[in-house]
Amino acid sequence: MHKFTFRDNELYCEDIKVSDIAKKVPTPFYLYSYGTLIDHYRKLKTAFSAINPLICFSMKSNSNIAVVRALVKNGAGLDVVSGGELYRARLAGVDPRKVVYAGVGKKREEIIEAIDFGILFFNAESEDELEEIQRCAEKYGRKVNVAIRINPDVIPKTHHYITTGKGETKFGLDFETAHKIFNMRWRYPNLRIKGVHIHIGSQITDALPFQEAIRKVIDFLNSKRIEIEYFNIGGGLGIIYSVENPQTAKSFARKIIPLIKKMGVKVILEPGRFISGNSGILVTRVIYTKRTPRKKFVIVDGGMSDLIRPSLYEAYHKIVPVKVPHNSSDTAERVDVVGPICESGDFLGKDRLMPQVGRGDLLAVMGAGAYGFVMSSNYNSRPRPSEVMAMGKKFYIVRRHETYKDLVRGETIPKVLR
Ligand code: LLP
Repeated sequence: MHKFTFRDNELYCEDIKVSDIAKKVPTPFYLYSYGTLIDHYRKLKTAFSAINPLICFSMKSNSNIAVVRALVKNGAGLDVVSGGELYRARLAGVDPRKVVYAGVGKKREEIIEAIDFGILFFNAESEDELEEIQRCAEKYGRKVNVAIRINPDVIPKTHHYITTGKGETKFGLDFETAHKIFNMRWRYPNLRIKGVHIHIGSQITDALPFQEAIRKVIDFLNSKRIEIEYFNIGGGLGIIYSVENPQTAKSFARKIIPLIKKMGVKVILEPGRFISGNSGILVTRVIYTKRTPRKKFVIVDGGMSDLIRPSLYEAYHKIVPVKVPHNSSDTAERVDVVGPICESGDFLGKDRLMPQVGRGDLLAVMGAGAYGFVMSSNYNSRPRPSEVMAMGKKFYIVRRHETYKDLVRGETIPKVLR
């Protein structure tokens, strides 16, 4: 459950009216609920308590340092995927021994930064990468833990852009190559290759593909007599955006724990969306409405530069007025909620049944806490929105909205053009 609720037809985040926040913060803005973030983290932690896993929040879903700090403070580790995320992780005060580092294209400087920080392990995705980590570790006289990311070739039944565990994607290594690496561990004297990592995709609503992938890995390890210390089973747990009926943390744990408990290894989970997705919304304001012979459009001040998921994946995000008019069901009509950007693909929702809204009204785009702000851009030279965190009756601006000056920071006109 999330803490965005209606009381007397007004949307609240925790114990604050969203409309009150909008009096102080210009729209559009992202609004996160601290309580929801922590609640979702704890749900997983509790569900898996029988095997006491390390839960590494996947920062790519939401890397605001206040969000990350909130989770770290409550015991979470972090899954990072770039030098930039590692930098944020350090600012959030994470214990290095709770950081895992994934990604197919880690650069030398990034590897060195992570070794220097003393992370728990790298999830390595190619032989080239292993050699690079070995070179860096040797140069700095360190022993470095590595888990091999295996691509288990399962079909997770989600959007093809967010499928990672099928054989033809760029992620991980096939079983044969993984076997070769485990056999040739001596080639990498500075690496302790003692873990396996899988991540089969995102927004997966059923435990079956996870079970299948885990079984495949266990069969592989058993048949090749490979011993490991860490098993990172990735992230990818789906959430409710509209009519999905995803597995709960409890039901997921009930299906996964029996498979891995007997392995006696340290289990790592890397959830992103499960923790952050329904912990955030995008608050946007209606600029204009217009009716054409074909459609009615509600034009809002948030667009694909702020939240790209609808445009990129045709992802569904529920959109609700922050104050629901009393006669709402009588006036409801089908509308397209669109942004101000010069692209037909710039929409937040299409053909939505919505109570009549007009200029100045506030709308909330739900389920925007994961892959929202982190995927925002400055397209059309639009300053990126603020991020706000609510805690009980208080709220904090955890990232101020950008200004025009921010837009051109770092740009220069060469002398010859002056
Ligand atoms: N671990 C690895 C190695 C990953 O690649 C990802 C996500 C996660 C964990 C976290 O997955 P989650 O628990 O959040 O599903 N932009 C897309 C999602 C891309 C996911 C990329 N990898 C979206 O907006 O749906």
